[in-house]
Amino acid sequence: MVYRDSSPKCMKVADLGCSVGPNTLLLTSNIIDIVHTACTRFNPEPPTFQFYLNDLIGNDFNTIFKSLPDFYTRLEEEKGHKFGSCFINATPGSFYGRLFPNNSINLFHSSNSLHWLSQDPLLGLTRETKSLNKGNCYIVSTSPPNVYKAYLNQFQKDFKLFLKSRSEELVYGGAMVLVFSGNTGTPRRTCWEIISLILNDMFLEGLIEEEKLDSFNIPVFEPTIEEVRHVIKEEGSFFVQRLEICNVPWDECINDDGGDSFLDGNIRAKVITKHARGSNGASLVRKFWCTSCK
Ligand SMILES: C[S@@+](CC[C@H](N)C(=O)[O-])C[C@H]1O[C@@H](n2cnc3c(N)ncnc32)[C@H](O)[C@@H]1O
Repeated sequence: MVYRDSSPKCMKVADLGCSVGPNTLLLTSNIIDIVHTACTRFNPEPPTFQFYLNDLIGNDFNTIFKSLPDFYTRLEEEKGHKFGSCFINATPGSFYGRLFPNNSINLFHSSNSLHWLSQDPLLGLTRETKSLNKGNCYIVSTSPPNVYKAYLNQFQKDFKLFLKSRSEELVYGGAMVLVFSGNTGTPRRTCWEIISLILNDMFLEGLIEEEKLDSFNIPVFEPTIEEVRHVIKEEGSFFVQRLEICNVPWDECINDDGGDSFLDGNIRAKVITKHARGSNGASLVRKFWCTSCK
């Protein structure tokens, strides 16, 4: 739609929180495919593409760069002479702030990244409130309401800054596609709560120090649709054009108490492990797997 409505000669797309791995260039080839199909149908000249891959400065951009020659070759083979040029750049830095010049990007995309907060949400809480969440590194069923409120406040602050920054960078008629890792609002055990429990087990086994456990809070918030809508409305730069909800079977897997499970324990553990690896990296995975098997 963004391409059809404005038909830019150079389509500038930014992927925010691109990470490094098999999914990193998937968005790039998907967008080229979509625009390519639109071009074949309406037959205008295909545009030039400029993709900006963004992630935090510690992301392994060199591995992405090394995969580019093969990626470009594959694009040329698949799209042939109808394919316009494609340039891929890296934009290191936090998406909670400005990354691009004013009016420079046609389309922003971000998937499974905006649940990462910019900082520990409990930093501003009093010692007393923090101690009520002692032994936990996340919002758990026994956490006092102030803990949830602190996480929500941090999400609202971060997401507002994200929207404001993108609104300045987007060209007139541009759009954003955001995929959130969210929650339905019904109480359930999340992957983050399980990680918190595992860290507590590790403390009890003497593998980590109490001080470290107490000072660590997972800086992640999975908002409800209403919480996302509320920030978008309050910030005021964007409106929601389309909203889709996708239920991932992960929910059934993690919240099942084992009684009626359609998956056996080992398969459940593998599903949970893969999810944890996908969203958090590999460092906690071994412990995570073992605990899930219990
Ligand atoms: C779970 S990965 C998502 C990767 C990919 N977008 C996908 O959907 O498969 C989340 C990524 O967001 C990045 N991220 C977290 N906070 C960020 C920030 N403030 N600015 C830029 N990237 C951030 C992380 O470094 C990580 O690579």
